[in-house]
Amino acid sequence: MAQLSARFITSNTEYKSCPPARFPEFAFIGRSNVGKSSLINSLTFHKGLAKTSQTPGKTQLINHFMIDDKWYLVDLPGYGFAKVSKEKRRDFEKMIFDYLINRENLTCLFVLLDIRLKPQAVDIEFMNRMVEHEIPFYIVFTKADKLSQKQVNESVDAYKNFLLESWDELPEIFITSAEKHVGREGILDSIDELIKS
Ligand code: GTP
Ligand code: MG
Repeated sequence: MAQLSARFITSNTEYKSCPPARFPEFAFIGRSNVGKSSLINSLTFHKGLAKTSQTPGKTQLINHFMIDDKWYLVDLPGYGFAKVSKEKRRDFEKMIFDYLINRENLTCLFVLLDIRLKPQAVDIEFMNRMVEHEIPFYIVFTKADKLSQKQVNESVDAYKNFLLESWDELPEIFITSAEKHVGREGILDSIDELIKS
């Protein structure tokens, strides 16, 4: 699949200042350092489009990118970042939730999970809140290049089984590596389908 046309539009601290809701919108969320910005660069094949860092907490604003003049892609700050003050963390979470709950053109959210980790309370709580608020989301496992194929399968199966203990059905699941550009077609195809439907 070719490079997408992608351009940065704006960064905002609140949903009210986001660009007019004229296009379908897809946002990427997950814990700090899970690989949101890297995945966005891999999806679009634009290396420096979204700023990445080894230090958690790099993305601090709601960042809108216009893709192919057809849809908005949104890079969000990570949740559950322990190294900032309680007040700052609360502010971040309020900013993120206000955006998620109020953004009328948000078509689907991609929740990123590090494939190397067992289910983490902060991710499960976040996804349960999405279910409560009826915000549609898909799950994206990141950093698959860090495990063998066998370990990837085991990790995903264990995660699915864990979720099925409390959920009746699973959202669509993608396995990705931004480093190796794995999994991008699946995500882009699903976005295409949602735009067309
Ligand atoms: P915040 O903006 O701080 O919330 O982080 P983020 O979720 O946007 O993570 P970011 O994309 O900045 O990546 C964090 C670190 O993980 C960087 O050092 C990346 O190089 C690394 N990383 C991201 N994706 C992958 C991947 O698929 N494979 C490997 N090996 N490393 C990755
Ligand atoms: Mg980021």
